[in-house]
Amino acid sequence: MPLPACPARFEVEIVDAPDALRSPLRTGQVPALAGETLLRALQRAQAPVLSICGGQASCGACRVEIEAAWIGRLPAAGRTEAALLDFLDDPGPGHRLACQLLLGPALDGLALTLAP
Ligand code: FES
Repeated sequence: MPLPACPARFEVEIVDAPDALRSPLRTGQVPALAGETLLRALQRAQAPVLSICGGQASCGACRVEIEAAWIGRLPAAGRTEAALLDFLDDPGPGHRLACQLLLGPALDGLALTLAP
């Protein structure tokens, strides 16, 4: 998928990942490009995040938990994302779908935990 013309590069930070996610990349900085989804950036870095529906906001496998300091800085979840998060067990206020979060320089340093 070609990215928009904005060349901005920045990083998001994986703070933690549950033990169930077996991967050498459980924490650390992940490079990201403006205009791509958080899911795409995590996948490119080979972070242990799943995408059963291919980013269509219908499986919930890409759920992440955003650190509290960042929750208010994110755009609100769209109707489809919000409906799926409501459907999931105990989604919590910081839970978002990585496939629905578009990244940009304003989210440089976005900190999150991968969900099982
Ligand atoms: S990849 Fe399925 S909801 Fe995000």
